[in-house]
Amino acid sequence: MELTIAFIIICVGVLGFGNVEGNIYVTSFGARGDGKTDDSQAFLKAWEAACQAGGTKTLTVPGGKNFFLQPLIFSGPCKSTVTFELLGTLLIPNPSEWKPNKNNRWIGFKDIEALTVLGPGQIDGRGEAWWNYRTPADRPTSLHFNRCNNLQVREITSVNTPRNHISIHNCTGPTISNLNLFAPGESPNTDGIDVSLSSQITIKDSSIRTGDDCVAINGGVVGINITNVNCGPGHGISVGSLGRNGQTEIVEQVLVKHCTFNKTQNGARIKTIPGGKGYVKGVVYEDITLIEAGNPIMIDQYYGCKDRCSSGASAVEISNVRFVGIKGTSVKKNAISMLCSDTKKCNDVGLEDVNITAAGEIKEVQSVCSNIEGYSRETTPPVPCFP
Ligand SMILES: *[C@@H]1O[C@H](CO)[C@@H](O)[C@H](O)[C@H]1NC(C)=O
Ligand SMILES: *[C@@H]1O[C@H](CO)[C@@H](O)[C@H](O)[C@H]1NC(C)=O
Ligand SMILES: *[C@@H]1O[C@H](CO)[C@@H](O)[C@H](O)[C@H]1NC(C)=O
Ligand SMILES: *[C@@H]1O[C@H](CO)[C@@H](O)[C@H](O)[C@H]1NC(C)=O
Repeated sequence: MELTIAFIIICVGVLGFGNVEGNIYVTSFGARGDGKTDDSQAFLKAWEAACQAGGTKTLTVPGGKNFFLQPLIFSGPCKSTVTFELLGTLLIPNPSEWKPNKNNRWIGFKDIEALTVLGPGQIDGRGEAWWNYRTPADRPTSLHFNRCNNLQVREITSVNTPRNHISIHNCTGPTISNLNLFAPGESPNTDGIDVSLSSQITIKDSSIRTGDDCVAINGGVVGINITNVNCGPGHGISVGSLGRNGQTEIVEQVLVKHCTFNKTQNGARIKTIPGGKGYVKGVVYEDITLIEAGNPIMIDQYYGCKDRCSSGASAVEISNVRFVGIKGTSVKKNAISMLCSDTKKCNDVGLEDVNITAAGEIKEVQSVCSNIEGYSRETTPPVPCFP
């Protein structure tokens, strides 16, 4: 009797502890890491093992190797809580080798709770081969997360992505930190982190030098804090664009704090397209350093139509926006540009403690604005729309 109980305890102990920790290596499932062999099936088998094991599992991609991967999706739900530990480098196929998939995503993670993706490995999108290739829609996003609640992504480096470095869609509670996302300033549509339909998002302590928005906050984002991000080159940290093709979209509770825009094309920007519906409210840009930024403060409700905008179109409504402690230099004359819709005024927009001076070719900076209500305090250049 006692022996039986002892035996059971030992068995439970061994099995239980066996499931608590333990690395699973992609190389144990046949991944070669020679930079040429397609390792995607081996990665998927290793993923399945890690995902179904139960307990806490680390799936390790060893260092010192280059893993060539066709597009693949790591799917849940998982029995285990998985850490995807990237130590080596992942290599994308070039356009002629690429096996097309529906959404043009390279590495996808889907339906996984509490996933951690951890560096310090590298994701190499070898974008030079892709950037001239057909339309943006034909170029893949490197890393895509769909329905991954409580996701953590840390210490990953992504270079030369064909399109977005990282997209996050329909996730609650993701935390993204200590990332390096690099691509040339002139590379097309290479957003750093693109977030949509997600809530309670943290993005912090990261360096993003890329060809498009450093962070793009898209429709359905509620609650996002972006702190200590160095952006540039890039197109700034943007809300939108929202309202494309007459869509109804909402964004609220955005805080962008203690960030630098270094030689970016834009800075703190909200962009909406005429004809859209919905709203943007509760946006704060605070403690922002500008180094030769273009368009450092920008609200543009005529995005994507320039001088062909039809007046009287519906608009995504903008209200309760603050720009606080925005300091440094602009290389564009219109350092503050807030052009709101002629159908729906921007409401309750405040600027405080803003000091932007001219740099580069330009002699002086100015503010331009229309259809806007709010206030400014200690703001240079002064905003003519406010009393
Ligand atoms: C978002 O994810 C939830 C499950 O977490 C799902 O029920 C819902 O359909 C998803 N929404 C969209 C638009 O994909
Ligand atoms: C963002 O910061 C605000 C103010 O510090 C805090 O109240 C809120 O909970 C934070 N949101 C997230 C998603 O961390
Ligand atoms: C701004 O970017 C330049 C490279 O373009 C870099 O040399 C410089 O260190 C950056 N400045 C800051 C304060 O990060
Ligand atoms: C704005 O910044 C410039 C450059 O740093 C400085 O010379 C100027 O005094 C500042 N103006 C205000 C009103 O603080």
